[in-house]
Amino acid sequence: MAPYTVKWGILATGGIAQTFSKDLLADPSARGTDDVRHEIVAAASSSSAERAAQFLKDVGAGADAKAYGSYAELVVDPNVDIIYVATPHSHHFQNAMLALEVGNKHVLCEKAFTVTAAQARKLVETARQRNLFLMEAVWTRYFPLSVQVRSLVQSGAIGTVYRVVADNSFNNNKDHTATSDLTFPDDNRMVNLDLAGGALLDLGIYSLTWLFQILYHLQPEAETDKEAPKVVAAINKYARTGSDESTTVVLQFPGHHSQGIGMTSLRVATDVGSAQKSSPAILIQGSDGEIQIMGPAFKPLAYRVVKKSDDTSESEVPWVDTPIPEDKREGVMWKGHGMFWEADEAARCLRDGKKESATLPLSESIVIMETMEEALRQGGVVYPEVITTDVYDKNSPLNTGKA
Ligand SMILES: NC(=O)c1ccc[n+]([C@@H]2O[C@H](COP(=O)([O-])OP(=O)(O)OC[C@H]3O[C@@H](n4cnc5c(N)ncnc54)[C@H](OP(=O)(O)O)[C@@H]3O)[C@@H](O)[C@H]2O)c1
Repeated sequence: MAPYTVKWGILATGGIAQTFSKDLLADPSARGTDDVRHEIVAAASSSSAERAAQFLKDVGAGADAKAYGSYAELVVDPNVDIIYVATPHSHHFQNAMLALEVGNKHVLCEKAFTVTAAQARKLVETARQRNLFLMEAVWTRYFPLSVQVRSLVQSGAIGTVYRVVADNSFNNNKDHTATSDLTFPDDNRMVNLDLAGGALLDLGIYSLTWLFQILYHLQPEAETDKEAPKVVAAINKYARTGSDESTTVVLQFPGHHSQGIGMTSLRVATDVGSAQKSSPAILIQGSDGEIQIMGPAFKPLAYRVVKKSDDTSESEVPWVDTPIPEDKREGVMWKGHGMFWEADEAARCLRDGKKESATLPLSESIVIMETMEEALRQGGVVYPEVITTDVYDKNSPLNTGKA
């Protein structure tokens, strides 16, 4: 049977739009996918149609792909099935609403889903009212290693899981002093409050991804009955801009006797520079042992299961490489980035008429946004009203490119 083809419209032309688009156009058979395929039929840049045209050329889209100089034109293109929102998180709510409301289009929206939980709830409500597909683009959830680790935990490989510790941090100090500036200019989206900058929404979300996909997603209860965590956060702010630079979030699930510790920092790195010397980025700790996963937390490729009874002094517990078969690795991992797994999931959902992904249900994206919002509130991080409002405005400067 011919593969089901999805026609994508790419909203924004920055770094991740490039990476995702190249992955979309990578040969699906290299990763063993033969039931779905992807086409890029249009892209939009808020700066100019020329920029969108250059983007389409750079990522290798077909010559007939349309280049738009505004997001509003892209979302009404009748040839587009689904919009990939790749603007800074400050813009996600307004841009995704534009695609749902004006374009009546399905949406795959980059992480962090929104800036506030109310915005996430509004997006979900709107997609459901309009019977449209909506998904937060947390690519890590669809990685073969994530799928395998979830299944190991479910099969009881390490007994009852009581704790998950996860870190996703990068050392961005300009120099070695305690009061050093970070390497980012103050207007960069990593530290700029106008663009919802800060470690938690950009990087910490991957630490939380591990906490949530094990401690929340795998709770045996039905989706509607899952236990949301109690949240305690410690946040150090970046003196120059007021965004969060080092953030630790403790999640407690008393009803399930479990806890999670999610860390992120722009001051120290998970990976000190040598894979052999770095500690695992993720520890999943159970009554019968633990699963250790090497970072980066967003793109993990190796893990090992250490059983309580193992005597590691006699023989090293082996690291299990990524579950991608040896003969596929070259084509899959090193020619692509690994974002095609989530694109394949979106395509299969569209093909099957599903309105959300069971691997990251919308209710879970909302709980994750509630968790991050609470952590930022405890740390006193305040974002401007224009990016926190949950009132949709198609003429918002976030939609028209004037912000
Ligand atoms: N999944 C992942 O691994 C991953 C990795 C990196 C980033 N991300 C997420 O993807 C999103 C974009 O990140 P990025 O690294 O691609 O950012 P980026 O390189 O700065 O690109 C963002 C794009 O958004 C558009 N934009 C519209 N208004 C803007 C404004 N006021 N300031 C800056 N850009 C504006 C611009 O495209 P036009 O001028 O064409 O409109 C710009 O090129 C973020 O939410 C981030 O968290 C995800």
